[in-house]
Amino acid sequence: MEKINLIQVGFGRVGRAFFELLKEKYDYCSGHYGLKLELRGLVRSQGAIILSSTKRVLNPSYFATDDLQYLSDWIPAITLSDLLDEFSPGVVVDCTPSDLKTGEPGFSLMKEALAKGWHVVTASKGALANHPTELSDLARKNKVAIKASGATAAALPALDVGLYSLAGTEILAIEGVLNGTTNYILTRMTEGLTYNQALEEAREKGIAEPDSSQDIEGWDTAVKMILIANQVLGTSIKLNEVKVAGIQGISREVIDKTNSLEKVLKLFGKCYREDCASPWKVEVGLALLDYDHPLATVNGTNKGIIFYTDSMGWVAVTGGKSDPRGAAAALLKDIINIYFMNF
Ligand SMILES: NC(=O)c1ccc[n+]([C@@H]2O[C@H](COP(=O)([O-])OP(=O)(O)OC[C@H]3O[C@@H](n4cnc5c(N)ncnc54)[C@H](OP(=O)(O)O)[C@@H]3O)[C@@H](O)[C@H]2O)c1
Repeated sequence: MEKINLIQVGFGRVGRAFFELLKEKYDYCSGHYGLKLELRGLVRSQGAIILSSTKRVLNPSYFATDDLQYLSDWIPAITLSDLLDEFSPGVVVDCTPSDLKTGEPGFSLMKEALAKGWHVVTASKGALANHPTELSDLARKNKVAIKASGATAAALPALDVGLYSLAGTEILAIEGVLNGTTNYILTRMTEGLTYNQALEEAREKGIAEPDSSQDIEGWDTAVKMILIANQVLGTSIKLNEVKVAGIQGISREVIDKTNSLEKVLKLFGKCYREDCASPWKVEVGLALLDYDHPLATVNGTNKGIIFYTDSMGWVAVTGGKSDPRGAAAALLKDIINIYFMNF
């Protein structure tokens, strides 16, 4: 039985979901994979808890309070650096916010963790979007993995398919419907709502966040697409090189026109090149899909991705939970794959 030390950073929606999932799956992972996933520390911006083992938090009464600073294990002065030095390397689970402009706090924490020999699994997008080469070089140099399923459409297995299932084929292009909020709004508009009604409904249902501008303006799709392209194709495309248009304020007339043309309107991310000597480009914008396009039936909060290849034809994957639990499950999957599958 292998004991894996975990340090979790961030305890918001995804962090809480990961913590709960870890408790729920602790016995399953040890029984099924022979992996004892030991949570050694949980770091927030103002302090951390240190744990002797996950077993301690499996007791439901441990978490009777919702906030870490009321727990007896809470230590305000402790930082991630202290925890990285305290325990032998395992995996840092990054659940911190995605700042697409600076890449922080993910960039600093990932750099330190990788340099100290810890694997990193991340749900945050900013660091990899801003510093793809520096982080992958550092991981390689220290012989550790940096895995970002949680940041690239989460429960939809986009990176796994591109990296492992398509090994040996040449990928010619990638297309994706990668944002659940905008896909929900477009789906509901097709069913008769106006843009404002659909957005309001998405907010009421907790699908859209109060500030959903990154989703609506297409930046979330853009960043997911470049993270996927950079890992799968080995490119180093930056967010400022991407042509991005979103769905903001789209009118009912456009949707009605789409219906009359017997097409489906999607917010679409594309990665392509003119020919094999040209550079790869990523673009995000509204696209009219034929009914028989594999992503045309990806509706509501669902997501999908399609890879066009030279020797396997096209391969599409759709579905995957689009919420914090789905993101948490993607983080757990990445940890298992590092150790059990040696990915
Ligand atoms: N929500 C989803 O469904 C979803 C799905 C896929 C991916 N993601 C990505 O997952 C990440 C987390 O999302 P979320 O919705 O859980 O965000 P959130 O609710 O805002 O939580 C962020 C957490 O990060 C902590 N944090 C911030 N700065 C920190 C620092 N310097 N050091 C340590 N901890 C720090 C915060 O702690 P304090 O409260 O103590 O400041 C908070 O606990 C984001 O990058 C997001 O893009 C989210």
